[in-house]
Amino acid sequence: MFRGFYKKTTAQRRAIIDEFRPDLHIMPKALPETVADNMIENYLMNYEIPLGVAVNFTINDKPYVVPMTVEEPSVIAAANNAGKILGNIKTTYGQREITGQIILSGVKNPETVLQQLETHKSTLLQQAKDASPNMVKRGGGPIALTFEHKSSQIEHYIVIYLTFNPCDAMGANAINTCLEALAPSIEELTGEIALMKILSNYSEVAVSKATTSVPVQKLHPNLEQAQNIAESIALASDYASIDVYRATTHNKGIMNGIDALCLATGNDWRAVEASVHAYASRTGNYQPLTKWTYDKESEYLIGEIELPIPVAVVGGTISVHPAAQWSLELLNNPSASELAEIMAAVGLAQNFAAVKALVTDGIQKGHMGLQARSLAMQVGATEGEVILLTEKLQEAPQMSSTIAQELLQEIRDNHSEEK
Ligand code: MEV
Repeated sequence: MFRGFYKKTTAQRRAIIDEFRPDLHIMPKALPETVADNMIENYLMNYEIPLGVAVNFTINDKPYVVPMTVEEPSVIAAANNAGKILGNIKTTYGQREITGQIILSGVKNPETVLQQLETHKSTLLQQAKDASPNMVKRGGGPIALTFEHKSSQIEHYIVIYLTFNPCDAMGANAINTCLEALAPSIEELTGEIALMKILSNYSEVAVSKATTSVPVQKLHPNLEQAQNIAESIALASDYASIDVYRATTHNKGIMNGIDALCLATGNDWRAVEASVHAYASRTGNYQPLTKWTYDKESEYLIGEIELPIPVAVVGGTISVHPAAQWSLELLNNPSASELAEIMAAVGLAQNFAAVKALVTDGIQKGHMGLQARSLAMQVGATEGEVILLTEKLQEAPQMSSTIAQELLQEIRDNHSEEK
């Protein structure tokens, strides 16, 4: 059904998606001004970014058409291609859990405060639950309280950590409300003042994992070249683990896919970015988030990704943005943890596409193709002319809008002569 999807016109692609999901009415999905005006302060206009789909994903044996919102030309093409090569990607998810902090500063007797908190732990946890009735009703809400003494060069602090199950929401509002409701009791109990109460975007438990095993022959029609590519991908992955300059860019490639899916589904990509990069640094050394190894005996390239992706499928922008709603429906309304797993799979595929390109042709070749297409559109090529002009631009010794205009004129002249 999706064969040659990228070669179709926009209208044809919409028709295919309509046929694929007749229950989803694809157009129009514009964000109404009245909704936007209530989303942010000082609203003026909507800023539009293209939404496309990667059509070749299979995750845990289920096919997915993945919505991606992104301005970078090569991202969806790369994800699409990688999805096809990688085949079935297996994913798992850790625990649906976020953490909030109440931080007490200037603590004179940390041991005494810790003891007071430990003694009243169950009462405090019950208070936290009472402050989150809706989450508790849905089977989530406060899970546990733990306490820690931390000291810096200038101060002693006591940190109260609240772990919280946000169910299918991101949970930022819910946990912040809960922390703010709990803080006065803690202040009264300890006689200390809370410096702040806030959700942390860090997690070591709400972690998505995805793995893939690719038969080496899928990397190139020539077996020897395919083996070289697999070895080079494994080397590129190894190198990223010893060089922060490379690891940062390696991870940027992963986030190309994850952020695009975050945006399409109305999720807070800043939270995801913060969480992911902190996780990449958890050993004290910033590390790549994927690992590729080549098993020469079985001739499989094996890829793994592991990262926390704090996303939601209800609440905030998600519930009011028509395109975010549409995107979630296209994914068959996943739970928040399933969405985080899909994102891990997309991140793994995006990284595979980037690294494979880097160790073979380089990324400019693919980029140039897409740049040619965007130049063709810029100079006013019609839908029927875009493909031909793109081909001609790629064959030209240089690419610029002047050359694109000249080539377009040539195409038009030839066409009228033929008539
Ligand atoms: C470009 O947006 C992303 C890459 O630089 C990622 C990488 O280098 O792995 C191609």
